[in-house]
Amino acid sequence: MLSVVPTPVTVRAPSKVNLHLAVGDLREDGYHELRTVFQALSLSDEVSVVPADALSVQVRGADAALVPADSTNLAWRAAELVAARAGREPAVAIMIDKGIPVAGGMAGGSADAAATLVALDALWHLGLGRDELDELAAELGSDVPFCLHGGIAIGTGRGEHLVPVLSRHTFHWVLALAKDGLSTPVVFRELDRLRAEGNPRRVDGTDELLHALAGGDPHVLAPLLGNDLQAAALSLNPALRRTLRAGVEAGALAGIVSGSGPTCAFLCADEDAAVTVSAELAGAGVCRTVRVASGPVHGARVVGASTP
Ligand code: C5P
Repeated sequence: MLSVVPTPVTVRAPSKVNLHLAVGDLREDGYHELRTVFQALSLSDEVSVVPADALSVQVRGADAALVPADSTNLAWRAAELVAARAGREPAVAIMIDKGIPVAGGMAGGSADAAATLVALDALWHLGLGRDELDELAAELGSDVPFCLHGGIAIGTGRGEHLVPVLSRHTFHWVLALAKDGLSTPVVFRELDRLRAEGNPRRVDGTDELLHALAGGDPHVLAPLLGNDLQAAALSLNPALRRTLRAGVEAGALAGIVSGSGPTCAFLCADEDAAVTVSAELAGAGVCRTVRVASGPVHGARVVGASTP
């Protein structure tokens, strides 16, 4: 008898940088009210799903050893959630190819969850609509809906309520990956502590930033980037100050901590400048490794699938 090897469905999902991240007060549910502007970046993960006897997760890539391959992995939880919605067993093998730094403030885990939702929707021919996918995504984590959508968006609430921002321009970034990760809840708690002790500076509104995005000039955008979590990330990892300085000295227009960090994101004038900055930063000894990326890019999308 011929055995047919099932063809996996593969989905690519982007990372993100918060161009603007205003953190409001701590809510009763333990989350902070946010207003943020996300941009999806070309640094991405690929997630493949294939039918199997039981649910499993495998992780490949440079940081694979740092990613749990059990039910604490957000992709695993995404598979359980879609299966429950579809009224079937989550009998799939999930393979994650990591390109996004782990615990880096770039939504790596959220990208994998978003990719798994899209992949299983395709594998099981569920035809889940945008609203249903959004609802499942928000249940999995604050950044998962944005990883589904990609592009540029304003996020409010926990970050899960999105309004798209149209932009016809591509921006070029250099990302400095740190040696150790930072835990998102720990960084939020550190900000609460800093605010209880003093009055760390808060980012301004988003009007000018949205204007700059529409205009497409990175020189105008650069001074408008801001992140309330940066003070907390720097407090927990003071060495990041040196990284931020080194990126600007290397020719970047501006540097910010990405989300809860510790990845530092440097906006550059153009693609050539990004390559130059990345080479210089790589030699400066201020980070583990350096990546060049651009954005906005699209959200989680099937890149390879079985033909019926
Ligand atoms: O939603 P997600 O699971 O990604 O959030 C991880 C943690 O980050 C939360 O448990 C919370 O401590 C913190 N967080 C927050 N406010 C937000 C988003 C996340 O305090 N808006």
